[in-house]
Amino acid sequence: MSAYSFIHHYHDVLVIGAGGAGLRASVAASELNHSVACLSKVPSTRSHTVAAQGGINAALGNRGHDDWHWHMYDTIKGSDWLGDQDAIALMCERAPEAVIELEKMGMPFTRDENGRIYQRAYGGQKTEYGKGDTAYRACAVADRTGHSLLHTLYAQALRQKVEFYIEYTALDLLMDEHNICRGVAAWCMETGELHIFHAHTTILATGGFGQVYASTTASTICTGDGNAMCLRAGLPLQDMEFIQFHPTGLYGSGVLITEGARGEGAILKNAKGERFMERYSPASKELASRDIIARAMMQEIMEGRGCGPKADYLHLCMEHLSPDIIKYKLPAISSIARTFTGLDITKDPIPVLPAVHYTMGGIPCNRNSQVVTLDSKQQEKLVCGLMAIGEASCTSVHGANRLGCNALLELVVFGKMAGETAARAVAPDATHPKISDMTLEPVITRFDSLRNRQGTTRPNQIRKALQQAMLENANIFRSGDILAVGQRKLRSLWDAMQQDLHVSDHSMIWNNDLLDALETDNLLRQATVMAASALERRESRGAHWRNDYPMRNDEEWLKHSVGFVDDLGNVRMQYRPVRLSGQETETLAPISFPPEVRAT
Ligand code: FUM
Repeated sequence: MSAYSFIHHYHDVLVIGAGGAGLRASVAASELNHSVACLSKVPSTRSHTVAAQGGINAALGNRGHDDWHWHMYDTIKGSDWLGDQDAIALMCERAPEAVIELEKMGMPFTRDENGRIYQRAYGGQKTEYGKGDTAYRACAVADRTGHSLLHTLYAQALRQKVEFYIEYTALDLLMDEHNICRGVAAWCMETGELHIFHAHTTILATGGFGQVYASTTASTICTGDGNAMCLRAGLPLQDMEFIQFHPTGLYGSGVLITEGARGEGAILKNAKGERFMERYSPASKELASRDIIARAMMQEIMEGRGCGPKADYLHLCMEHLSPDIIKYKLPAISSIARTFTGLDITKDPIPVLPAVHYTMGGIPCNRNSQVVTLDSKQQEKLVCGLMAIGEASCTSVHGANRLGCNALLELVVFGKMAGETAARAVAPDATHPKISDMTLEPVITRFDSLRNRQGTTRPNQIRKALQQAMLENANIFRSGDILAVGQRKLRSLWDAMQQDLHVSDHSMIWNNDLLDALETDNLLRQATVMAASALERRESRGAHWRNDYPMRNDEEWLKHSVGFVDDLGNVRMQYRPVRLSGQETETLAPISFPPEVRAT
């Protein structure tokens, strides 16, 4: 440890991650006059939020009557009843206010003919508690909603003088002897220096871990670094088996082709030219929930009705849409299709295949975004000084399957609340306790050890093998046998990581080889919890489909999986009840949507 020196920073609130959630939290805490540091491994406007296309849900009712209770019902149904209803109630109730707030910050929403925010249809969303017509709830900026949201919030953060630390890689949480989080250690890529960030509250807004799979819409930065930091701190991750496959990843690259296209009328066809969703979900067709469409697409391919020379993709057809819709509502996917495939979506169908898009699991939190863990008696305990928001968190508003356009909503609702909660927990500029060597030593030992590995296997070889293993053994259709084979593959990757890793670059400045090793270690830990959670859950629910247990089983499995992993790759599973009732406000009576059969 003595070989390293540290630069110290002291802030009231530390936010790790500068995507939509991190920025919204940073802005909220700064507005309360607290000193806020926002640390990110990429410039804020390159965070993965930029890739969100279709919209942000809110029951504004700009295109037909809507009600946030209907939004709440759809979200719970979409979650296959695994979502925590108190958190879902809060998110849906606050959605309209959150969107109007963004509008007032200057977010350039697309407008309808009356000048109101344009809203489009999205999968799994209806009026009248699922019994009415299609709901038009997704507020959109053409098909670049995430891009606009990110730039809008970044401008607010600059205005609030949030202190940014860009191209800093967070290494680990600094947990004291009472298990209170006191900040993080980080590595500045540009200068190669190590930094200690002291904070009264650390908010993890580090995104999902889609990079655990070979085919994903998630950018290469999505390695779930905050999740892995929690695991190394002895904290669990929740509901990791629930991985969302977006039905329309572009064949070959996995780049997202927004569900907004289907919201505007695009349809899916197989090699025989059949609109196959009519068979799988006659009422909702291409606007069924994502898990249902992704399974239907794989079924078509498995039964030999895929398109192309290898019969391994399907067609998304937009040739029948008016050119104005393509021009004004879907310009980004039009350009993506042209760039990646040379196709013109006004004339040609585009080849699509489900790709990993969103990780429903993450850091377990209560509805105030405070991180919780379980003790040996399965009792819930708050982890002081630590919060999590956005895709890194499992609050859990998405349960077993997320509805499209609830991700951006989650970012802003819980981001704002978390920033305010963190700021209110402490007086501005309160003094910081000293961080002991005992806290720091394991963090630096791990960093130093990875930096100096002299085996023969490159980090990238391990990452690629991991991504392939997950694709083969934890895909849309799973079974106990296949998952068990996956676990054996992961075991050999743990061995490679621990005994044979080779990091060739030992420098400190812009050492991408070492960054790759750190991220691969992060991915492997998460994949290990994911595979164990999937193997244990002997039922099918939302995005987790088990061929050997094809029914949902509320009696045994209406509960959250909570998985810990030690430094040798051994997993310990515990469980936590689902909160089946939501409170609209502190004073009103709780509302509850008890489990129902879910087919669309
Ligand atoms: O398809 C999309 O536009 C994705 C939206 C989302 O995942 O929320």
